[in-house]
Amino acid sequence: MRIEGKEYRTIWFENNVVKIIDQTKLPHRFIIKDLKSVKDAINAIKVMEVRGAPLIGGTAAYGIALAVQENNNPEFLKKSAEELIQSRPTAINLKWAVDRMIKKLEGINSDQILSIALNEAKEICDEDEKFCESIGIYGLKIIEEIYNKKKDTVNILTHCNAGWLATINWGTATSPIYHAHKKGIPVHVWVDETRPRNQGANLTSYELNEEEIPNTIIADNTGGILMQRGEVDMCIVGTDRTLSNGDVCNKIGTYLKALAAHDNNVPFYVALPSSTIDWNIKDAKDIPIEVRSSEELSHVEGIDENNRIKKILIYPNKSKAMNLAFDVTPAKYVTGLITEKGISEASTEGLKKLFN
Ligand code: MRU
Repeated sequence: MRIEGKEYRTIWFENNVVKIIDQTKLPHRFIIKDLKSVKDAINAIKVMEVRGAPLIGGTAAYGIALAVQENNNPEFLKKSAEELIQSRPTAINLKWAVDRMIKKLEGINSDQILSIALNEAKEICDEDEKFCESIGIYGLKIIEEIYNKKKDTVNILTHCNAGWLATINWGTATSPIYHAHKKGIPVHVWVDETRPRNQGANLTSYELNEEEIPNTIIADNTGGILMQRGEVDMCIVGTDRTLSNGDVCNKIGTYLKALAAHDNNVPFYVALPSSTIDWNIKDAKDIPIEVRSSEELSHVEGIDENNRIKKILIYPNKSKAMNLAFDVTPAKYVTGLITEKGISEASTEGLKKLFN
């Protein structure tokens, strides 16, 4: 998608380095960063220079390729794979991408190993882009149906950033929105700010602005009253891990939005590529929920009057804070799962129909 009129993907390989858009600097600075080693890739995932389940999967895949480039030794590769998988615990895409890379490289000792690794990492990214585009085509039908009934702007609420910046291109939750906009359907997006890291305000609103899609940032607690007032036609969010029973684990606060949507009969859709489905864990209680530094709550970052980036403390300095990064929305609150293969009920039967 576009930034200042120029088309980008979120990650690519050029001149022996992996290029990423440093998302910790958005929206105030647009900086392309080089990842030269697997250590750089691990760090980029940990500090969230790259984030969003599909993009951290793509970065982990390129991380394996960087490890091969650095030191083609089985022990080093094994250790790198383990560290990549552990760099963030909740999104299943990390393990999915690393396992796929390791499987592809198994038993290859030839000079070809680096080019095979690079091709497979690119293939993982290209596939994600294709899947996200397909999610958009299926999701467009839902927006179109609402528009045909309403004959007026479709108001869509989204949480966090499940946009193109969280994937390779298109996004998951935003892909139907981009497709609707391209088709001329009037859409307006309510963007949850998404404390504490403000991915909604800093990334979703930013990318929608760049594509000229009308959007309004709201505090995370505002969605409920907007739904009560009939100002939300549908919600679409992303997911970091979808269980085979249709439960979805996504950015903290998603669950509360789903409850409000349920109480107000607002359709609540979750958009996902199949790489975020965890076919193994059966009980949501077993999903590892990331706990991040409390400093992400107690401090905020922005630009001052001299256009300098500044971080300031906003809490009493003696207060304790707790920063859980994800929550789980039970399948019963999910109207449907929008996948690359079509829209399914959020249930074992629904997912089985599409993926078996
Ligand atoms: O902590 P983040 O910014 O990586 O969390 C991202 C989300 O919660 C997204 O909704 C999810 O990864 C889906 S991205 C298409």
